[in-house]
Amino acid sequence: MKKDKNRVYIFDTTLRDGEQSPGYSMNTEEKLLLARQLERLGVDIIEAGFPIASEGDFDAVKQIAREIKKSQVAGLARANKTDIDRAWQAIKGAANPRIHTFISSSDIHLKYQLKKSREQVLKEAVAAVKLAKSYTDNVEFSPMDATRSDKDYLVDMVSAVIDAGATTVNIPDTVGYAIPEEFGRLIAYLFAHVQNIDDAIIATHCHNDLGLAVANSLAGIRNGARQIECTINGIGERAGNTAMEEAVMALQTRKDLFGLYTKINTDQIYKTSRLLTQITGISVQPNKAIVGANAFAHESGIHQDGLIKEKITYEIMTPQSVGISDTHIVLGKHSGRNAISHHLKKMGYLLNDEQLNKVAARVKDLADVKKDIYDEDLEAILSEEIYRGEDKYTLVYLNVVSGNVAIPTATMEIQVGDEIVRKAGFGNGPVDATFAAIRNITQTNYPLMKYIVNAITGGSDAQGEVTVQLKYNEHSVVGRGAHPDVLVASAKAYINALNRLEFIKSNRKKVKVVE
Ligand code: KIV
Ligand code: ZN
Repeated sequence: MKKDKNRVYIFDTTLRDGEQSPGYSMNTEEKLLLARQLERLGVDIIEAGFPIASEGDFDAVKQIAREIKKSQVAGLARANKTDIDRAWQAIKGAANPRIHTFISSSDIHLKYQLKKSREQVLKEAVAAVKLAKSYTDNVEFSPMDATRSDKDYLVDMVSAVIDAGATTVNIPDTVGYAIPEEFGRLIAYLFAHVQNIDDAIIATHCHNDLGLAVANSLAGIRNGARQIECTINGIGERAGNTAMEEAVMALQTRKDLFGLYTKINTDQIYKTSRLLTQITGISVQPNKAIVGANAFAHESGIHQDGLIKEKITYEIMTPQSVGISDTHIVLGKHSGRNAISHHLKKMGYLLNDEQLNKVAARVKDLADVKKDIYDEDLEAILSEEIYRGEDKYTLVYLNVVSGNVAIPTATMEIQVGDEIVRKAGFGNGPVDATFAAIRNITQTNYPLMKYIVNAITGGSDAQGEVTVQLKYNEHSVVGRGAHPDVLVASAKAYINALNRLEFIKSNRKKVKVVE
């Protein structure tokens, strides 16, 4: 196939590198939802997971591979037979499967981690690519910690894996050490010294430890790379990866400079970002570029004045171009099931009858206490009713007594499996009492690391969106709940965190092996 030299491929690793980071673990159903949305977003390659890492990862990759048709589906594998065979078993059902295999190339990793010589590692890299190639033509290779590797050894490795059949070679800045100019120079060096470089696409995979992941990726692109590895909202190991929305919108907004294009449907960006925060319960900071709550909010009088006169004065891209619409009010008290279904379809959610009934009932309840229902409210309901696995605990009843003369007391019923358990809890305040009741019923006592309350949309009738983070061994788990009553939202969020924790305990015996 002839290469289009102006096209930049977008490789999304939210479900692999992103999912590895604390608080972002997802169950298979949630991964599928996100994969479907990534396909709608138009990403070229979805890295669906690391199949050798756990049974759960393997199953999720397999299901995504079976279902996703338009995007390529990649499975990650270390450069050894067991990993590569397992990755292939997981992705072989895909319309366009890709094996992504990797081994470190820096002397630091070779000496302290792999304890192998350069020659040995080079041999293993080539053998891994050849084995992957025996399964599929679509093989990607990554020399891990490339930016701290000896340049000429890197040249040898890149050219050897291309000879062995790698069609994409990714240059990871694994520890987020590079500075844009330097990263750009490294890519240029490879183009100047790897004889067969035109036989592969060169990719960037930048971590954000110095806050430079997007800048480094763009520097790589300026110097010939044509694939960006990135994640939604920039999630990923430590400080995260290149944020897809930022890299894509930079390429689009500064087309005059780059002269390149991607096949991303940018109007799906905001929805994808929201879906990820709904699933994981972790919001982006308000000033986050492109998808933060303030990204398009102009506060200064001078700016507002300019905008009224002519948008171009202070707006370099429109909110609509990333899928943020001007008017958000969507439904109200009188919206029927059809209107809800129609609107959800417009938002990109196709529900079956049972799911629609659940959502419609929740919308009706909400409309009783809240005049206008926004997209964000619907998404909050969807995340509670639909994007959930089997829950061990369900909130049935909550009554809280509080005030300046009462001892805050919560009486609560929770369904635990088939049984309904009722207990009370006391605390310093109503939230504390609510959480105490939950701990008494569930016989758990995980340290509470974070408790955050946000209003979804404006107004005093807005739903409260609560995020709770609990500590479990060296992990943490996040739960989310939304309700017009903040105490109910808090109870739901705490219970959601416990359900997620149960899921993690039973499904993830995962050993973290890579960054
Ligand atoms: O950061 C890294 O080096 C990785 C590789 C597995 C590509 O995630
Ligand atoms: Zn990485």
